[in-house]
Amino acid sequence: MTKILVGGGAGFIGSALVPVLQEHGYEVTVVDLLWFGNRLPEGTRVLQKQLFDLTETDLEGFDQVVFLAGLSNDPMAEYSPARNFVENGALPSYLAFIAKKAGVQRFIYASSCSLYGYTVNELYDEESPVTCSYPYGISKLQGERGVMQLQDEGFSTIALRQGTVCGYSPRMRFDLIINTMFRCGLVDGKITINNPSIWRPLMDVRDSCAAFLRAIQADSAISGAFNVAYDNFTVGQVGDIVREELMELTGEKIAIEVLSQQDYRNYKVTCEKARTYLGFNPKYGIADTIGELYQHLDEFGDFSDKRFYNIQVFKELEQQKAAK
Ligand SMILES: NC(=O)c1ccc[n+]([C@@H]2O[C@H](COP(=O)([O-])OP(=O)(O)OC[C@H]3O[C@@H](n4cnc5c(N)ncnc54)[C@H](O)[C@@H]3O)[C@@H](O)[C@H]2O)c1
Repeated sequence: MTKILVGGGAGFIGSALVPVLQEHGYEVTVVDLLWFGNRLPEGTRVLQKQLFDLTETDLEGFDQVVFLAGLSNDPMAEYSPARNFVENGALPSYLAFIAKKAGVQRFIYASSCSLYGYTVNELYDEESPVTCSYPYGISKLQGERGVMQLQDEGFSTIALRQGTVCGYSPRMRFDLIINTMFRCGLVDGKITINNPSIWRPLMDVRDSCAAFLRAIQADSAISGAFNVAYDNFTVGQVGDIVREELMELTGEKIAIEVLSQQDYRNYKVTCEKARTYLGFNPKYGIADTIGELYQHLDEFGDFSDKRFYNIQVFKELEQQKAAK
């Protein structure tokens, strides 16, 4: 049985991915600090641990490692830039380094299209320049480069440069574009668009899981960075689709408020390489994502609960640490 260690596997993507891997017959071990709790299927092997504390011996016997840890958005990275560069830049390199020494055959890194920065509305592929100049983007690029540096014949490294991932996971986040608009539409009856012309590649978390699965299943000769997203949308387009879907589902009127705030991220990507080499074929558009979120409405309870917003939980944890 293929043994997979998932670092950060109790987060938003991990909580959706781990059950998929288990259904496909993989033996999964999760190592996670459990910042946002543990909503993994009962019986999942979970070690509450800092990944930096793992040693080569801990990784012996695993076939593959999937890295989903670190600080996963701009507000966290900006709140604690030093920690961001350590957890996002250095940690993936350290983990890949000890994994390779332990005989692990493949390391899959959750990278981000954030590293493209502010582009000029061209379609970016994996060879395009990376222009980010903000902590989160730079650190994700550093993490990716550190991991890719270790690739050789016996050690495959794959970086999935994900667009913004949205949709339903047992560990919910309402700080991701579509999910935020879903919450605002339902709770406030109004969706605010900070800048309608900014481009973003987006992906439902079910397609993100499919991308990780395809990377795990890929031929051992395959390595490299791959853009993965469903499609590119302007923020204005996203708002219109979310509004339309929500109005149809609820029968309520929902307003749109358009602002003209500056954004330092603007990018469109092509996922042709992932389609060709990984057989990645995303299925879920924005309307599907909204339908799925709506189906789980009863589970969410109080939308203002801090556990839905990474920065709120993270700030509290950092403040507790500083007070010790
Ligand atoms: N969600 C997105 O839209 C998106 C897009 C592109 C890339 N990514 C990347 O995908 C990964 C997963 O994203 P997510 O949305 O599931 O994030 P998340 O914040 O929900 O989960 C991260 C998990 O990692 C754990 N963790 C963090 N640092 C750790 C450490 N040092 N040791 C052990 N556990 C640690 C946390 O406890 C948490 O459970 C991240 O690396 C993120 O940068 C996410």
